[in-house]
Formats: sequence, structure tokens, C-alpha cells
Amino acid sequence: MFYPEEVVEEVRMRSDIVDVISGYVKLQKKGSNYFGLCPFHNEKSPSFSVSPQKQMYYCFGCGAGGNAITFVMEYENYSFPDALKLLADRAGVKLPEAEYSREEQQKSYKRARLLEINKLAANYFYYQLNQPQGRVGYEYFKERGLTDETIRHFGLGFSNKVRNDLYQFLKAKGYEDDILKETGLVSIEERGAYDKFWNRVMFPIMDVNNRVVGFGGRVMGGGEPKYLNSPETLIFDKSQNLYGLNYARTSREKYLLLCEGYMDVIAMHQAGLSHAVASLGTSLTERHANLLKRYTQQIVLTYDSDGAGVKAALRAIPMLKAVGISTKVLNMKPYKDPDEFIKNKGVDAFRERIDQAQNSFLFEIEVMKKDYQLDDPEQKTRFYHAAARKLLEFGEALERDNFTQAVAQAQGIPFGDLRRLVNQLGARMGGAGMPAVSAREDYHSPGERKKKEKDDGIKKAQRLLLTWLIERPALFEKIDGIIGPEDFVEPLYHQVAELVFAGRRQGMPNPAEILNHFINDDEQYKEVAALFHAQLEESLDNEGQKKAFSEIVYRVKKNSLDYASRHAADIDELQKIIREQAALKTFSITID
Ligand code: CTP
Ligand code: MN
Repeated sequence: MFYPEEVVEEVRMRSDIVDVISGYVKLQKKGSNYFGLCPFHNEKSPSFSVSPQKQMYYCFGCGAGGNAITFVMEYENYSFPDALKLLADRAGVKLPEAEYSREEQQKSYKRARLLEINKLAANYFYYQLNQPQGRVGYEYFKERGLTDETIRHFGLGFSNKVRNDLYQFLKAKGYEDDILKETGLVSIEERGAYDKFWNRVMFPIMDVNNRVVGFGGRVMGGGEPKYLNSPETLIFDKSQNLYGLNYARTSREKYLLLCEGYMDVIAMHQAGLSHAVASLGTSLTERHANLLKRYTQQIVLTYDSDGAGVKAALRAIPMLKAVGISTKVLNMKPYKDPDEFIKNKGVDAFRERIDQAQNSFLFEIEVMKKDYQLDDPEQKTRFYHAAARKLLEFGEALERDNFTQAVAQAQGIPFGDLRRLVNQLGARMGGAGMPAVSAREDYHSPGERKKKEKDDGIKKAQRLLLTWLIERPALFEKIDGIIGPEDFVEPLYHQVAELVFAGRRQGMPNPAEILNHFINDDEQYKEVAALFHAQLEESLDNEGQKKAFSEIVYRVKKNSLDYASRHAADIDELQKIIREQAALKTFSITID
């Protein structure tokens, strides 16, 4: 759904940021700003600031920043339209209705019905668990150490040993066979209708918005299959859901725990590790990785300690790496899975294992080693070669060296020897990972270094000037006729400057509104947010910075003119630029 800019702006204007954020974070007023504990990273003293003037928030600790809409997006992990809807509701702004095609309307209607039925079914199973016929299920959960509170929290239930009582229940609620078929909860054949789940304890699967989208069921006793899951439906896609994510996403831990089973997630949550999730009886998919990426940058794998678990870990690691998540692997031995471990050793011991979790690369090397018989010198050499080749995965020299060192230490290989081997193999293989080449890439001549420093300086001058103009709109008068948006040569700052100057023409530049223009690009968004919240030492209240103002304006203008002279279209333009360059020599501004 695309909303016109005026609508977005209206919602934003009617959503006071202090008001919105107070609903999530305890804020205290200090001077003209509010401060609180940052909800986006762990901290003990408040570095999260909210400015009512700018209608923005910024964390001096982790750099998170934005306006009311992005706060809701980040906190709730909502898309832009969803965040807008939430704020519009709150502020009583009516959003224009989406125009759906007939087909879309039907689909959306059907989806709503399926969610409704799943919810009813979950309630039904939960109810059965607490009835005499569900006793066996309840006792099973109790025997596995679950409290009533946990059973309620996860909405666990029981499907009776009767072949179609859920079907009867849903029929009685008025649902037709056609829609019931699509839930995957029943199969309807000529001979009659049957429940898919039967004599099983039931695990409702919730999406991130706590809606029941499917079920897993574990058989009572030794039947096969041990676990049965809902089939794919209009609302359930196994490769897109992670069990426990609805709770884990609000845990605010820096990392998530990824495990294999329902019972593992539940055991961990019950023990206070509410940041545990599981893929649902399938191996991790790329889509899971992308979903995880929205919530964390770090994962501790707590897969089963058996061969299958190791294999699953080896598959998951590169997949997570591909989306930019760094992974560690927890050693569960001598236990099979987190559930067993916690039951036997307790959660404190488990937390210790989390602290000791191994970097995924070292884990991969460790697994590789098992293929070699290290008491045979030939095989040992082959293992070293394989490890060295794997180290070539790191294209960046410093990173490669650090890992070479770690592998050398872990495997008791002299570091110098291993490094030499890595370099030799790299040189022989050529290509991107070749150390000789990247070593050269890392090298900058003194001339190159100087140029880079100069570029950084000019960029900084533009950034400071923008920051100050936003902080003190009165400065616009000082630079009137000297500096315009075109003088900000850095492409991103140029865009911002255009918006800031346009804002000034209409009164006051509005940082929160300007920020919205960068919402689709994380990197840019962060940079612009930081721009509007420059560190205090860069503030113009500082005496040194007052003196610097003139110098900064000079540098920005000079750079802009130099740039223009290099790109001048004709001799007239060039002469004009040269005159301006000459005039700049006597330039000075004072501010108080
Ligand atoms: N699984 C599945 N279908 C199966 C077996 C397993 O979908 N036939 C999934 C389930 O999500 C299960 C997970 O894989 O939770 C892990 O399976 P397994 O290690 O066999 O089971 P546990 O979780 O140890 O089961 P339990 O402790 O209940 O015996
Ligand atoms: Mn288990």
C-alpha cells in the first residue's frame, strides 16, 4: 500500500514523539530533551535521547535514530505501512482505504477465515488438555517438566483419540467443508472426514504477530511419525516461520538461540532464555535466514549434538553468513539437546555453555578434522592444507590473519608455518582470496593516504555545516548568498541540503520529515539521523566551534568551487568561478 506524502506527514505531525516513545520506554526530562534506556541495545545508563523540538530520537550508544514512524518500525519490527497504521489509529487519523482487486479481496477474506479457524482449533486443543480425555497429554507435559504457566504461555493442547471430533466442533461452528479442507486440519474424503491430528500433544505455531498459523503435534507413545506438522496452507509456510519468534523478538537480547525442536524452545523459554527459536521440522532455509536477519546479527546455534545436528549446523552457518549474521556453535555434550541439558545441568550451566560457544569457523575446522587420522603424518599434512585452503575464504588480510592465528592455536600448529602455508596456497590459487593481491590492495601510498584524509575533511566540513544549520536556523542569514544546497558536493549531503534549504524557505527545516525521505536505505537513514544529532562537542555552543564556523563555511564553498571549476561547461562559467574563488580569499563570518 502506498500512502501519499501528505498523509504520512499528517500522521507524523499528530504523533508526538515523546508521547509515542513513552509508551515503550521510560523517559526522563533533562534540559530540553528526554532520556531513557535504549530499547535497541543493552545498557545500564541512559544514552537514548528524544528531542521534542526535532521530533526525533537518537541513541548516543548504538547510533539508532529516527522519527516516530521509524521508532515503531524498529521496535515492533513493522513494515512502513504497518507502523503508519498503528500511529494513525493512535492519533485518530483515517488512512485512505486500499483498493484491492476482487481476487485480492477474496484471498484476504480467506486468509482471515483460516486464521479464525486456527485460533478456534488452538482453543479447542487447549481445552481438551484440561479435560479427562486429555489427561494423558497433560501428564506427558508435566512429566517433561513443564509448568502450567508454560503450557498456557505456549497455548499447548491435546488432540483426542477420536478420529474427527475437531471436524465436528468446527462444523458446529458453521464452517463449510471447502474452507475446512484448506486449513490442513482435516481431510475430507468420500468415506468421511478425519482430523489430521489425533492422539497427540499439540503445539500451536504462531507468527510474529501472535496469530496461530499452523500446528505441530507429537504422538503419545511410540507411534510414527513422532512429530506431525500442518501442511503448507495459505497462511502457513514452514520455510518462513520460526517457532518462538513471536516471543524471542521482544527479548531484546543481542543474539538469538537457534535450536531444532519445539520442546527445546519451550524448555529454554521456561528457564528464562526467551530468545530461543526453532525452525519447524525442516532444515534452515534462506528465507529463515532473512527473517532472522530482521531481528538479530548474531546467532548461537544450539542444534542437537548428534550427527544430524552437526550436519544441520554446517548447512546453517554459510546460510546465516550470507545474510550477514555471525554464528557461534554451542557444545551440548554429553547431552543431546537443550531440553535434556537444562533438565540435567540447569540453566546456569547452559548459560556458561553459551558464553563458551565456539566461533562457527573454528567449529567448521573442528568438524573437518574428524575426516583425518592425525597420527598419520601424511593425513595430518592434508588436514593442514585443507585448513589453510579454508582460511582463504577470508578475503581481507587482517581477518584472515586473525583466524589463521586462532586456528593455529586451537590445532597446535605454529602460527608462522600455517600463515606461510595459507599464503603459498593463496598465491598458487590466485583469484579473489589470494593474499598477495589483497595485501597489495590494503596498501595505500602516502599520496593516496593524503588524498583520503583530505576527502574525509571536506566531507566532515559539509556534515558540520548541515548540522549547525539545523541546530540554529538563524545561521541561514549568515550564509545567505554564499552557500546554497549545490555547495554540498557529497551526494547524500547534497540531497539532505536540498531538503533543509527547502524547509527553511517554508519556515523551519523539519528533521523528522526530512529523514522520511531516506527510509528505504538503511545506511543513508542512519547517517542522516546521526547528522541531525551530532555529538555535543560539535555543537555550536562550544567556543572553539564558533571560531570554526567561518573556516567551515570557507572550506565547503572552496571545495564546491574547485569541483565546479573541474566540471565547468565553458570558459564563461569558468571565469565566473575563478572570480568567486578570488572573492573567497577575503571571506570571513563572525557569529555570537
Ligand atoms: N520433527 C518433525 N518431524 C519428525 C521428527 C522431528 O517435524 N518426524 C521436528 C520437530 O519440530 C521436532 C524437531 O524436529 O521438535 C526435533 O526432533 P527430534 O530431535 O527427533 O525430537 P525432540 O525435539 O528431541 O523430541 P522429543 O524431545 O519430543 O522426543
Ligand atoms: Mn528432545
